[in-house]
Amino acid sequence: MKLTVKAIREKKKKEKIVCLTAYDFPFARILDEVGMDIILVGDSLGMVLLGYDSTVRVTLREMVHHTKAVSRAVKRALIVSDMPFASYQGSFDQAFRSAKRLIQEGGAEAVKLEGAGALVKTIKGLIQAGIPVMGHLGMTPQTATFLGGYKVQGREPKAARQILEDAQKLEDAGVFSLVLECVPRKLAEQITKKISCPTIGIGAGPKTDGQILVLHDLLGFEGPVHPRFVRRYASFEKEAKQAFSRYLSDVRSGSFPSLKESFE
Ligand code: KIV
Repeated sequence: MKLTVKAIREKKKKEKIVCLTAYDFPFARILDEVGMDIILVGDSLGMVLLGYDSTVRVTLREMVHHTKAVSRAVKRALIVSDMPFASYQGSFDQAFRSAKRLIQEGGAEAVKLEGAGALVKTIKGLIQAGIPVMGHLGMTPQTATFLGGYKVQGREPKAARQILEDAQKLEDAGVFSLVLECVPRKLAEQITKKISCPTIGIGAGPKTDGQILVLHDLLGFEGPVHPRFVRRYASFEKEAKQAFSRYLSDVRSGSFPSLKESFE
């Protein structure tokens, strides 16, 4: 049965919500088949898939393209698509047009926006227009430069209070869930207790209502950094390299293809 925004909300306090990113058809199909609750077409695709040095280079066109591939594969999970940098900050109309493309062309069922402050009004407007929104606070990669880089946020009491207040404002605006990225676990727990929509943590400790990771980190692709909060569940890059090397030597030695792997 297809998971809805309502079903995700109702999981709070009952069961953990398990989320992962995906950007293409085959991985989205596999994640859906194993029972992932939410598949996020994250703008992290800019870094793990397209080779950009940050997520700010990702365009709406790229997000629509990858969301299309994911939505073709998914039967059960809720599909959330990231609104990329500069596709929603300009005005409500711009945000509405961008979200409309991710939903109507891409097949997303909800969108995710980073931040609060002046954006709360836009987020409320989108929700009133019938577009489910997932919030994102803490370390917000699209504005990482203002935060001093990819660093834990909310360690100082003043910053923690601000994140707590922002979480409440997003909840009041009607977000159906809230990503908390790289915040101290006590703060994540406090927010999780305070707001009634589910919190989804990444580098936010064990007390959030759900967890999310970037697919390539979980699988063990080697990147320039290995964040402390990532658990690697596979050594995909190592195994892929071994497979490619074997293929290389088999072709060079003439052992591939064999008679079995060719036609009479
Ligand atoms: O873009 C992304 O993958 C994300 C997750 C890390 C939450 O925003």
